[in-house]
Amino acid sequence: MTNQSGTAKLTFGDQEIDLPMYSPTAGPDVIDIRKLYAQGHVFTYDPGFTSTASTDSAITFIDGDKGELLHRGFPIDQLAEKSHFLEVCYLLLYGELPSGDQLETFESLVTNHTMLHEQMQFLFRGFRRDAHPMAVMVGVVGAMSAFYHDSTDINDPHQREVASIRLIAKMPTIAAWAYKYTIGQPFVYPRNDLDYASNFLRMCFSVPAEDYEVNPILARAMDRIFTLHADHEQNASTSTVRLASSSGANPFACIAAGIACLWGPAHGGANQACLEMLREIGTVDQIPEYIRRAKDKDDPFRLMGFGHRVYKNFDPRAKVMKQSADEVLDLLGIENNETLKVAKELEKIALEDPYFIEKKLYPNVDFYSGIILDAMGFPTSMFTPIFALARTVGWISQWKEQLADPQLKIGRPRQLYCGPTARDYIDVEDR
Ligand code: ACO
Repeated sequence: MTNQSGTAKLTFGDQEIDLPMYSPTAGPDVIDIRKLYAQGHVFTYDPGFTSTASTDSAITFIDGDKGELLHRGFPIDQLAEKSHFLEVCYLLLYGELPSGDQLETFESLVTNHTMLHEQMQFLFRGFRRDAHPMAVMVGVVGAMSAFYHDSTDINDPHQREVASIRLIAKMPTIAAWAYKYTIGQPFVYPRNDLDYASNFLRMCFSVPAEDYEVNPILARAMDRIFTLHADHEQNASTSTVRLASSSGANPFACIAAGIACLWGPAHGGANQACLEMLREIGTVDQIPEYIRRAKDKDDPFRLMGFGHRVYKNFDPRAKVMKQSADEVLDLLGIENNETLKVAKELEKIALEDPYFIEKKLYPNVDFYSGIILDAMGFPTSMFTPIFALARTVGWISQWKEQLADPQLKIGRPRQLYCGPTARDYIDVEDR
């Protein structure tokens, strides 16, 4: 927590209350309202937390107006271009870029935790074959607390560390197995001679009957997708992880809660919804009709992959993703891809439309990621599991930071009650 930088005066009725203010290293100042109820007997009202800082944090910073995203101070475009996912994991978890030796040790640690407890395959087999892979992931990650008892004590720093590594290492295996199960193919075990992204691609796409060679350009694109999704400050799923953890819940239960939250179409589920929307639009000539619907107040349709709670400018991740989409489609020789054509034209039209300009609705990270994943051969149902896999390190970093905070309190929002006041029970025969 930074030192107090000023005081805000709140006047209501005949009361005047002084509230401390703090200046962050970047971003707007905050007013500390923690003592407000005790001093003034009032609550603040902020559904959707649009003006509320729920925590202090030193991990990720977003300037939504500028379209800037920093991890531990490093801009996301530099990390996407020069770094790779496991190095970014190290940076998020420990706060600094690793030395060569530190990186080697970390990579080897993660690589050596990629296998799942053999008994876990029976858990997978208990699901229906047509289960959504996100449903499988919520269940399997939650069940890790039943398999890895030796890393559930949140008060033991060693156990916290082991749980962190296990989650980051095993998530690709869990996501790949959730996929293999739904298509009726044998589970593919991880291979320690492959890097994180190549290992995931192999576990998804290889079969025992044939050799499988990972295309390094696709592995690089996969790694970049992981990097671009690694963390995003106090978003809905991260806040869910923090809220679950504030009660002292074990790490596997907390991350399962984060996965459940990420699933929704307004959050991580948007990448699946976006590609489905682009396919539904089908051809460029249909775009004006969908733009009309998106602007119609009486139509619930929204342009998926557009708009963001925090970014009121281009999502910096979308820029890198767009470039990656071009590279991957080029490599795979997918020219004249109709979906990509629709996406590019839709982006152009929306960016020139006064409705989208006024509301500052720009493409977000999900607008292009689906096109890349589709070209790589992933079904739409795998898009959100891949997001969950990548975001695990962000959730874990925020979870660790929260547990290290001496001011940690159980999260317990208040409410503006609008229901009936106290009344007497009426016997059923008198109603
Ligand atoms: N299409 C059409 N109109 C939109 C869209 C959209 N995609 N997004 C917002 N609007 C409009 C709203 O109707 C609203 O209009 P109004 O002021 O006339 O009522 C205005 O823009 C503000 O929208 P809010 O919903 O208040 O913005 P909020 O910050 O709450 O929502 C959200 C952000 C949920 C991301 C929203 O933009 C949306 O639903 N986008 C589509 C889903 C999506 O792509 N989600 C991915 C987010 S990124 C991520 O999770 C990785």
